Amino acid sequence: MANRISDDIRAGVLCATESETAALGCAVAAGMTGDRLVMSLEGPLGAGKTCFVGGLAGGLGIADVSSPTFALVHEYPGGRLPLVHFDFYRLEREDDLVALGFDDYLREPGICAIEWGGKFPGALPPGTWRVAFDIVPGGRIIRAAIVR
Ligand SMILES: Nc1ncnc2c1ncn2[C@@H]1O[C@H](COP(=O)(O)OP(=O)(O)OP(=O)(O)O)[C@@H](O)[C@H]1O
Ligand SMILES: [Mg+2]
Repeated sequence: MANRISDDIRAGVLCATESETAALGCAVAAGMTGDRLVMSLEGPLGAGKTCFVGGLAGGLGIADVSSPTFALVHEYPGGRLPLVHFDFYRLEREDDLVALGFDDYLREPGICAIEWGGKFPGALPPGTWRVAFDIVPGGRIIRAAIVR
């Protein structure tokens, strides 16, 4: 995916508010050119990862992403492409990904967004965007690097 938004987020974007973070996610999803994108969302508690996922959903045309925080995986059909939202925060062992069917999701079209995906970097396929969320005095700096 090469476009303005992907260039911006690879350079790092300062999002001053929650709505700016969501708008960035929305722009990434709306601007994606291929049919599959895996994103590992990495940063401390409260950094804005879930907020960004809400934006991704909006950019795919998915209306409601309210989800119980304890779930390890949520699927959101109904948009231009489906969204799958993982949260590895409570996952203790990489082996547990097998039971979740993680590899199967990676083969499906759509966006696969993984909060705390940096816990198991070996599980992230080539092409994954590792998106770092840094809390700074002016908001959040969000920067993506692509796994080779
Ligand atoms: N610029 C910003 N971008 C995103 N969220 C912000 C920003 N400024 C303040 N916030 C606040 O930070 C919190 C971000 O919460 P969110 O649930 O998205 O974090 P998270 O990274 O998913 O955390 P967790 O690791 O606990 O899942 C919200 O309370 C939001 O209002
Ligand atoms: Mg979260």
